[in-house]
Amino acid sequence: MKIKQYRTQFIQELSAIYDAGEAESFFYLILEEKQKLKRIDFALDPDLTFSDDEIEIWNSILEQLKQEIPVQYLLGKTSFYGLDFEVNENVLIPRPETEELVEWIIQSGKMEAGRGEREDGSKNLKILDIGTGSGCIAISLAKNISNAEVFAIDVSEKALATAQKNAEINEVKVIFINTNILETDDLEKLPTSHFPLPTYFDIIVSNPPYVREFEKEEIKKNVLDNEPHLALFVDDNDALVFYRKIAELAQKNLSPNGQLFFEINQYLGKEMIGLLENMGFKNIELRKDIYGNDRMIRGTI
Ligand SMILES: C[S@@+](CC[C@H](N)C(=O)[O-])C[C@H]1O[C@@H](n2cnc3c(N)ncnc32)[C@H](O)[C@@H]1O
Repeated sequence: MKIKQYRTQFIQELSAIYDAGEAESFFYLILEEKQKLKRIDFALDPDLTFSDDEIEIWNSILEQLKQEIPVQYLLGKTSFYGLDFEVNENVLIPRPETEELVEWIIQSGKMEAGRGEREDGSKNLKILDIGTGSGCIAISLAKNISNAEVFAIDVSEKALATAQKNAEINEVKVIFINTNILETDDLEKLPTSHFPLPTYFDIIVSNPPYVREFEKEEIKKNVLDNEPHLALFVDDNDALVFYRKIAELAQKNLSPNGQLFFEINQYLGKEMIGLLENMGFKNIELRKDIYGNDRMIRGTI
């Protein structure tokens, strides 16, 4: 069968669930990943064909897309901040909003690194990512801030195994630590064989679970049915539990002028400013994402 013909059928069959542009982007993503064919190859040779075996594989992917399984999980990979990441059902699929947070940190990190020697005499910028999931934040920072020493925590061992693989794929060193941040009272005593752990971090960042149970209705079915709930949801009655805990730890373990960055629930911008102000953080800045939603915040001590 001609690929061109299959493409029309593929987009048509997905039209009830996805708009044509999205269905077309899935088609080209899969074409590149499974057939190693780029859009340009297909454009240059519209007579290219699929074998019967290939059609069988494509039909199976099509069925799973119809069940709203995210294309990133079907392909087992995604792209984040220009880097390749392996993803699976144990990790949240990295979001474009989080790339904006990473961009903000990289710009701040480069300025911070330019200030020279740190408190402990080293020139390395010490960064901690809490709730690392696929490792997307930690690994992008390690890749883009040349003198960074990066640590990353997650409560999920399976997520950390994926994050470790992603660090290898991207050829960066990140120290991954398996712990429950809500039960952590001292960042210097994290359960790791890496020694010594920094007493002070220059940057602490977290994109913790922040979707309240009652907001589930707003969440798309493909997210709700496939992505790990551990990564997404918090109790309605204490939506800021992770932020409060991490800010408390940051009060103790951020270096002078150290910066705390969070990705946040778009509806809780004011509450987040209040929380950081009440805890004595300074230079608080709330930023919107490309969709115009309050999405990230920074404070210093
Ligand atoms: C919203 S996801 C963020 C993943 C990744 N950093 C990103 O930006 O795509 C939150 C992460 O926090 C982790 N997590 C949830 N509860 C935790 C806890 N109590 N301690 C440490 N990590 C936790 C989840 O396993 C998940 O990987």
